[in-house]
Amino acid sequence: MRTALIGAGVIGPVHAAILQKRGDLCAVCDINEEKLSRFSSLPVYTDYIRMLEEVKPDAVHICTPHYLHAEMICEALSRGIHTLCEKPLCISLDEIEKIKRAERISKANFGVCLQNRYNGENLYIKEYLKGKKIVSVTGAVAWHRDAAYYASAPWRGKWGTEGGGVLINQALHTLDLVLWLTGAPDSVTASVSNLTLQNAIEVEDSAVIIGKGDTGFVFFATNGSPADMPVELTVKTADEIIKVTPGSVVINGEAIRFKEKYEALGKKCYGSGHEALINDFYSCIEEGRRFPIGAEEASRSVKVILAAYESGGKEIFIR
Ligand SMILES: NC(=O)c1ccc[n+]([C@@H]2O[C@H](COP(=O)([O-])OP(=O)(O)OC[C@H]3O[C@@H](n4cnc5c(N)ncnc54)[C@H](O)[C@@H]3O)[C@@H](O)[C@H]2O)c1
Repeated sequence: MRTALIGAGVIGPVHAAILQKRGDLCAVCDINEEKLSRFSSLPVYTDYIRMLEEVKPDAVHICTPHYLHAEMICEALSRGIHTLCEKPLCISLDEIEKIKRAERISKANFGVCLQNRYNGENLYIKEYLKGKKIVSVTGAVAWHRDAAYYASAPWRGKWGTEGGGVLINQALHTLDLVLWLTGAPDSVTASVSNLTLQNAIEVEDSAVIIGKGDTGFVFFATNGSPADMPVELTVKTADEIIKVTPGSVVINGEAIRFKEKYEALGKKCYGSGHEALINDFYSCIEEGRRFPIGAEEASRSVKVILAAYESGGKEIFIR
């Protein structure tokens, strides 16, 4: 594989390290030339279209701000380039439809980096619950993101470029896990607010979502915690209470611990799923299988989040 990377900010280097370990990284693009200095042994570009045209990579990883995902995914897929994009899939319903169309007509594979699905405890619980009736799921994210974090890049904290706050960025992974277990809801009712960062960001730092459908859920998220706390999923079945936190599953009080196969690269809260997900993406390409987290799968959390933004306390039915 010859794989190019677009976006060499915070998460791009995590992808680059894994691609270099695989021997696949062939070119890097970032509009900020300083970010390219660490890749001086490779062809580097400041224009991603030029890179795709000149390098003609087999695959590309997109690690740019949220508002650029849809355009970059469609440009890469239309050239038949296998495309792995960082989360979220995109930030609007129109973009979801454009990406789905681009994926449908492309011969290339497409995936979204929802790496927490590859953590041992989450793989275990997904398998454990097969065939069981889930009564309800609760997801909770309490992390710390302050004004300095939001000032670290101009796209953060703005509706036009980030597309939202805690929900579409930090909490999306855990919401995706909730929806992986419950399936897509019919409707959501939500309250979204900015409790701690009124002078720093336009978007929400806190939210509560109630989802109704075959299996209902409750989801809590805030960036206003004094510290990053472990994310939590609680699942209720007919006769069990199951608590899932990073590295452990506790079923009716009995704990099972998980040790990850891969090293955690980047911030601790990213976990160590990136390498497992990226290796699976390339196994799918080699074996001619669709990657399991394509546009349809990755659009679920985005649709729930967009409905939560629209809700203002009213029930919104998911399209
Ligand atoms: N999966 C995870 O756990 C995880 C963790 C962190 C970030 N992310 C996601 O990764 C993406 C990037 O986040 P980040 O924190 O690395 O942001 P960042 O701002 O640190 O990096 C983005 C980079 O993209 C570059 N860029 C902007 N416009 C560009 C363009 N037109 N062409 C080429 N490069 C361009 C910027 O110069 C910057 O270096 C976001 O979607 C974010 O949500 C995912």
